[in-house]
This record gives sequence, structure tokens and C-alpha cells, in this order.
Amino acid sequence: MIDELIARQIVRRLSNGPQRFSEIVPFCWGAFPSDVRRVLVDLVNQTTVLQRGEQFGIAPIPGTPLHGFGVRPSDEIARRYCEIVRDWPDPHQSNYEWRFTFEGARLLLDTVQSLCGSAARVCFMGCPTPFLFAALAGLSESILLLDNGTPTISYMRTVGFGAQVREHDLLLGLPSELSSGFDAVVMDPPWYPEYYANFLDASSRAVVKGGYVLSALFPPCTREAAADERATVLQAGFECGLSVVSLCQGVLRYDTPHFEANTLALSGVEPLPNWRQADLLVFVKTAEPGGLRPAVVRPSSWKEWILGKCVVKLRVTTERFDNCEILVPIRGQNALLPTVSRTCELIPHIGLWTSSNHAYRVNRPDLVGRILDLMSRGMNAAEVKLAIQMEFSQGSHEDQQSLCSAVDELFKATCFV
Ligand SMILES: C[S@@+](CC[C@H](N)C(=O)[O-])C[C@H]1O[C@@H](n2cnc3c(N)ncnc32)[C@H](O)[C@@H]1O
Repeated sequence: MIDELIARQIVRRLSNGPQRFSEIVPFCWGAFPSDVRRVLVDLVNQTTVLQRGEQFGIAPIPGTPLHGFGVRPSDEIARRYCEIVRDWPDPHQSNYEWRFTFEGARLLLDTVQSLCGSAARVCFMGCPTPFLFAALAGLSESILLLDNGTPTISYMRTVGFGAQVREHDLLLGLPSELSSGFDAVVMDPPWYPEYYANFLDASSRAVVKGGYVLSALFPPCTREAAADERATVLQAGFECGLSVVSLCQGVLRYDTPHFEANTLALSGVEPLPNWRQADLLVFVKTAEPGGLRPAVVRPSSWKEWILGKCVVKLRVTTERFDNCEILVPIRGQNALLPTVSRTCELIPHIGLWTSSNHAYRVNRPDLVGRILDLMSRGMNAAEVKLAIQMEFSQGSHEDQQSLCSAVDELFKATCFV
């Protein structure tokens, strides 16, 4: 196995351009130089590596980019990236969507390139931001995004990356046709151990032996049990055939999502610059994952609307609660959720949840869904009220009033800059 790893490192090193033996050795993870020499000679004999005097190199592979992530000038990537991010539907707390900063996405891509070379095939799992960066850098032939976020996947299609994205729930495992199809996976699952177990299992199946898995890892003070849970993540990686290569503290930064900014404001914390960060954990695949996939967690099912940049989710349920109002703020007078933790005891009672973190109990999901349909057609509040009152003209005066206040509430919760 060690010779295989050394060979991969040599090829990766050379994929960035010809090198001398002395420049190859430090890249081989501590392999003794005579072992590096032996493997290098084998590669030359197999003509995988070409030798010219003191220089070693590999022939360019037809159809692969010549300079990896630098094929487009970085200011052009940054400009287009900002344009696309500006209109991207907002992240939603229910799907744990915390997006990297531009620099965070670039760091992940640079790391993939330095580990795997410029022609790497990369699968992004729950990682749309670095995917976007890679796609804009001109790597669209060799990358794939797997994510279950419907608004994000639809949006990536509208901006031209339809062939490289797939809406997929990674709690259901890796689609079998993707097995061993990649040199690297970049992943950032929701920050809970059972998600990591499932994503790591899928990642290990997706990469070839000797391939890399780069993962964001939540810091130890994220919550009470986080330090122990980090150890669980490392153990899960090991059980999936992944060995730790490196752990860099706090290098991945996140943009503060709208839902988190609103919740922080509610608790009296002044707006912070992008404060959230994660460690970068790198694994290499040294063995095949075990036969059993980890236990599955089943999130709730929601119907979604996109109003401007606001994502609105309506829980698919038949449950009713005892109130004549059709829409009631989750905390009585206030609709804003006071936390971004999934342990919040209010969450199971949420019927409607916006990406600005406004949450409501819903008594008549059919009527609320209808209002959202009308809003998504671009109608203003007065038009929606008129249309809905005509449709439900058989309702009592109270019902009509409740409908109108639901319309006002929904416009208030979804209209933000
Ligand atoms: C913590 S965020 C990571 C986003 C990443 N930092 C970025 O900027 O691209 C988690 C991501 O995983 C996705 N996700 C959540 N549950 C998932 C699941 N069961 N299967 C696939 N993707 C999932 C979310 O849509 C979201 O994009």
C-alpha cells in the first residue's frame, strides 16, 4: 500500500509541472528517499513518468486543464462569483446551510489542487460554494455537486451548471454509479455526528484508493458535546477506511447567514464580521469502507417557495392545533426563532419557516400554501388579499380577517433586503 501512496504523491507533484528528485521527496509524506527513488524508477519504466536529465515530468493528459484552478484569471472568477452569490436564494436553517466565504471556498480548491494535481476529478458533497468556485474556474468537466438543497440545485442549473449538479440526499448513501469515480471529495455536512458518518461513508466510496477527503470540522466549543463529537467523527472516518493526513485549526470561514444574523440581533449581539469558522480535516483513503452503512436520520419533509431571495418552507403534515388563526408566530407575539440550534424545543411545532428565521404554527397549510402560490406569482399584498378572499368567500368574517393578517405577516417575514 505504501508504494501506491508514494506513486500517487509523485504523480500529483508532477501534475503541477516537471520537478527534480529533491523537489519530489518532501512531498511524499515522510517516505524514505530510497523508497521514493525506487517507486519513481518504476514509474519511469512504466512510462507513467518521463525523465529528461535531472527533471521528471508527466505527459499532459488530453482534455484536461493545463493549469488547474488558475485557468481563468482570479479577478474574473471573483467578479462572476459575486454576481451569482448576490442572487442565490438565501441559506435556510432547517437544512443547516452555512456557506463559506469566497476565501474559504478558494482555500479548499487550492488544497485539492496541491494534493491531487490540476486534473483531479472532484465531488462536492453538501458544498455548493467551493463547487461554484471550481465551476467558475473552468473545471466543469471534472466536478460534481451532490446536495439535497432544492433551491440551491435549481439555482445552479439556472446559472448554467446543470450537468454538474445532482439533487441527492446523502443520508441515503452514494449513488452506486459514482463509486470510485473521483480523486477527491470536498464535504461540509450539517455539523452533527450522524451526518458526518453518512457523508464520510459516501465520500470513501466515491474516491479511489489513495484519494483525498477534505472536510470542514466544527470547532470544540460549538456546543457542550462538540469536543467528544469531534473524536467520533475521526473514528467514523477510520471505520470508513479514511486515515487522517492533517487538521488545520480555524482556516475555513463562513459568511453569517441572514437567519443567524437575525437570531444574534434578537439576543442583543451587535452585527459581527464573519465570525464562524471551522477546521480543515484531510483524510486519505487507505482501505475500503465496511459493508454496513451508518444509521439514517430522517429529517422532516417540507414544501418550498422562493420569494425573491427568501426561501419559505411549509411542513408537510396533517397535524392541526387548537386556534382559529391560520398562522400564529411561534413565540406568541414574536415569530423570530431565538436560536440556530436543532435542539430548540420550538422546532417540532414549526409549520412555516423562512430563511430569515421567522417561524409560525400553521393551522391551515392548504390556505397558507395558496397564499404563497399567489405571492410567488409576483402579486402585491392587496392583490393577494383580494384573490384569496374571492376564492374563500364562503368563510366567516373572522376567517377572512385571519386570511388577511396571514397575508400581511407573510409579506413582513419574507420582504427583506
Ligand atoms: C453546513 S452546510 C455546508 C455548505 C458549505 N459550507 C458551502 O459553503 O458550500 C451543509 C450543506 O449540506 C447540505 N445538506 C444538508 N443535509 C443534506 C443531506 N441529507 N444530503 C445532502 N446534502 C445535505 C445543505 O443543503 C448544505 O448545502
